[in-house]
Amino acid sequence: MKTIRVNLSDNSYNIYIDEGLLEKIGDTLVKEKTPCKTLLITDKNIEKVYGSIVSESLLRNKFDVRLVSLTPGEEQKTLETAFILYDACFDHKLDRNSLIVALGGGVVGDISGFVAATFMRGIPFIQIPTSLLAQVDSSIGGKVAVNHPKGKNMIGSFYQPRAVFIDTDTLATLPATELVAGLVEVIKYGVIKDAELFEFIEKSLYDILQLNHDALLKIIATSCQIKANVVEEDEKEKHLRAILNYGHTIGHAIETVTNYKKYRHGEAVAIGMLYAARIAIDMGLTDNTVFERQLSLIKRLGLPLQTGLKPEEIVKTLYADKKVISGRLRFILPTQIGEVIISDQVTEEILHRILNKPL
Ligand code: GLY
Repeated sequence: MKTIRVNLSDNSYNIYIDEGLLEKIGDTLVKEKTPCKTLLITDKNIEKVYGSIVSESLLRNKFDVRLVSLTPGEEQKTLETAFILYDACFDHKLDRNSLIVALGGGVVGDISGFVAATFMRGIPFIQIPTSLLAQVDSSIGGKVAVNHPKGKNMIGSFYQPRAVFIDTDTLATLPATELVAGLVEVIKYGVIKDAELFEFIEKSLYDILQLNHDALLKIIATSCQIKANVVEEDEKEKHLRAILNYGHTIGHAIETVTNYKKYRHGEAVAIGMLYAARIAIDMGLTDNTVFERQLSLIKRLGLPLQTGLKPEEIVKTLYADKKVISGRLRFILPTQIGEVIISDQVTEEILHRILNKPL
């Protein structure tokens, strides 16, 4: 088992990564938390495959578990659903020493973390992410939230989990499209911080897509370590943490314009990364290979490259984003594979020029 420590003084925690971890989750969890009342939150798809494996392992280790299963989907990530979960917390008589366990993808993790952060002003919670995206990104770093009709993740907090348990076997039941979308975030880590990781993906893409355990362990552990390092330096996203949003500025605009229906998050981010690389080239910050290498990987993943959206529409949406500071957009731009800068120098003129050129 691989263990990565996230050092955040009183809020420090371990990320455990291994195959076959779910069957023995209770045995590992007792090292972190004395058995207690536990609300296990999942969704109906995940429940079918892993619900009883996890509950039984927890029960064998004397955790008093109640399972709550949500309807799958981003639409569920609302205050109304949180309210149902608060009811379950009361029903199962959770107190400040109890535990909330999130078993699932990003939606389950975000809303469970939000409920854990707010019920009785915060009770312990752990993350068991089952999608690649959740394993390398959303389960680590303590961003918890629900959506509001005015915007995604607008009601939330920073609230760190007590531990994160990643079972690489869960990727075997993940739809291929979700695996590929999650891989975009792994490529992102390569671009922002780790040229060696990027090269590894270039060389080992076949093994990764075949779910070879060693290849998965390498990309997941490296991604988690990079995210942990960034969050350790800037837990509340005052500055450095923004680099994790590489590809997300335009990616987010694409998701917004298409009402979050046409593209998976990772697909929109992939397009956003390519445009960000083009912007960096236009501004003389880097050379064409930085774009070409990303393009080649993204093509090999079979991801869509064209949006069919009008550049004006994307630009308008960009300026309406919550991340606009004093009328300036904030972009993460690569200077080489493994290194990015945070820039507020990207003008509307550059954007129009870049977005008008097909990828
Ligand atoms: N997904 C970006 C962050 O956690 O900061």
